[in-house]
Amino acid sequence: MPVGRKEGKPLLRMLTGGPGSPADPPPIWLMRQAGRYLPEYRALRAQSPSFLDFCFTPDLAVEATLQPIRRFGFDGAILFSDILVIPHALGQAVRFAEGHGPLLEPMRSKADIDRLSATGLRDRLAPVFETLRRLSAALLPETTLIGFAGAPWTVASYMIEGAGGSDFVNAKRMAYGDPELFGRLIDLLVESTVDYLTAQIEAGAQVLQLFDSWSGALAEPERRRWSLEPLIRITQRLKALHPEIPVILFPRGAGLLYLDFARASGAAGLSLDSSLPLDWAAAELQPLLAVQGNLDPILLLTGGKALDREVKRILDGLGKGRFVFNLGHGILPETPIAHVEQLIEQVRKGRG
Ligand code: CP3
Repeated sequence: MPVGRKEGKPLLRMLTGGPGSPADPPPIWLMRQAGRYLPEYRALRAQSPSFLDFCFTPDLAVEATLQPIRRFGFDGAILFSDILVIPHALGQAVRFAEGHGPLLEPMRSKADIDRLSATGLRDRLAPVFETLRRLSAALLPETTLIGFAGAPWTVASYMIEGAGGSDFVNAKRMAYGDPELFGRLIDLLVESTVDYLTAQIEAGAQVLQLFDSWSGALAEPERRRWSLEPLIRITQRLKALHPEIPVILFPRGAGLLYLDFARASGAAGLSLDSSLPLDWAAAELQPLLAVQGNLDPILLLTGGKALDREVKRILDGLGKGRFVFNLGHGILPETPIAHVEQLIEQVRKGRG
């Protein structure tokens, strides 16, 4: 039985700017919509002690992708995988420790970077492409299949720090202090990401999102150089190869530089973090491309009137232009399912 929602292909249409965009109600999907807040995910996840093995087992990854679609009928199904499969495929040791998040063998020197190799990248990531092929057969044609990758800066920061939560001291020291060496790592990530996302398109991805979750950690000139510029290069290369595939960028915390992402990147959509003023985004960004966002995921913990009020404010603020409802960052594991249902019900009622 195909899985999904039964009218049109609203998400893809919104991003390509075809007839029917803007739309009321807008299409909706949620960043990190698959995961531990779902009991069926926790049961599935228990089948594989290693998170990377879980991501690389198509039976399990297909099921994890489909779980939130079955439950909520989102307009977009995002491939179940992780941004850190790229460092793994380049030869860095990556693991996910229970309760600690990702742990990588930290890269601090030229020798560490020289050991990385993109040879065989598509072979090492073959299970991801198999997952996408099976998903494109399993989904209703009305549901858009979203592929993704991490942005070079965010992925490089994990590769250098070796873990999250470290204030990026080592990654920023390399970026600021040895831009030539850091630039080589970024170049390798640009090339690998273009190749990886091209293979995702060939396997059935219909939209791509690039997650630059830590764009906001960089000072302004470095944010241009290491977050914006690599994302422009990737987007332009993908557009030249597959002009029909919309690319969404998520430069979280980029602040006023969101404007440069909208003007210079060639992206079809920008995913807004929760800090951006809606009237500014509607006036400055929405005329240039579709925007996506930007509910604070904490409101999905509180629920109630606070959630309703904020959903209404976002629908009123962005719903008149090209808009995809989403969060400002990923859904949290402690999120009650009833609050996600409340959110979807309200979004699907639209502005009326
Ligand atoms: O959105 C989805 O539902 C698709 C799957 C997806 C995952 N990670 C699954 C995952 C996506 C799109 C990601 C992206 C990702 N991964 C990002 C960018 C988005 C963001 O949240 O900023 C980042 C920074 C990562 C790196 C990562 N992976 C971290 C920091 C962690 C640990 C934190 C956590 O939530 O546990 C992961 C692990 C991870 N990736 C889990 C899931 C469902 C949890 C691991 C588990 O189930 O055991």
